[in-house]
Amino acid sequence: MGQGLFVAIEGIDGAGTSTQAELLANELRREGRPVHLTREPSDGPIGSMIRQVLRGRLVAAGSSGRPLGWETMALLFAADRMDHLKSEIEPNLGDGIDVVTDRYYHSSIVYQAETSGEPATWSWIRTLNQRARAPNLTVILDVQEKVAQKRRAARRSAVEIFEEPELQARMAAFYRRLPELLAGEPFAVVDGNRGIDAVHELIVGAVQSARLRQGT
Ligand code: TYD
Repeated sequence: MGQGLFVAIEGIDGAGTSTQAELLANELRREGRPVHLTREPSDGPIGSMIRQVLRGRLVAAGSSGRPLGWETMALLFAADRMDHLKSEIEPNLGDGIDVVTDRYYHSSIVYQAETSGEPATWSWIRTLNQRARAPNLTVILDVQEKVAQKRRAARRSAVEIFEEPELQARMAAFYRRLPELLAGEPFAVVDGNRGIDAVHELIVGAVQSARLRQGT
């Protein structure tokens, strides 16, 4: 049995990564392929802790309420990723199951480098994640910050620490540069401003091409 296909869905907050990851997983299942749908931060121990930090619900005693620095966040996300890979992603791929993840190391490169205030730090973050295998395809949902902002406002979940419009606009621009910075990795940049179904169709097309390349 061959390895499953590994697909990551990426973009800023409100780009639609969760919606599109779920739609893609359903489509692959409809085609009769076994699929494991997952996300980062993961549902493992480190990922669960990160979610508390993102919602501002975890502040250590003795920290005088100071938020964790970007370096600490980058290390936590990288640790969560290794645990996610070993416990969920690699075992499933090895069993011939496709894995669709809502976010992966590209989120670390974009979010932690932009929040560092010094985008050149992206290469350190890339190094931290060097042992995380590259996906067979990374879909970047390219959206205008104004469109993403409207979508964020429409959802009821708690506001997270990165959801400032100016930061999100810089991150949207950074995502557009990723295929050039990580040359050699397979990317599909998709117009995420369009409606849910139109975006889904574009993603399905990109995944089909990746499958042909992969021979799965
Ligand atoms: P998100 O994917 O929006 O999940 P939920 O819908 O459950 O709130 O939240 C994850 C946030 O974490 C998002 O703002 C992106 C950020 N993030 C990073 O900063 N670095 C990373 O490596 C990852 C995976 C996510």
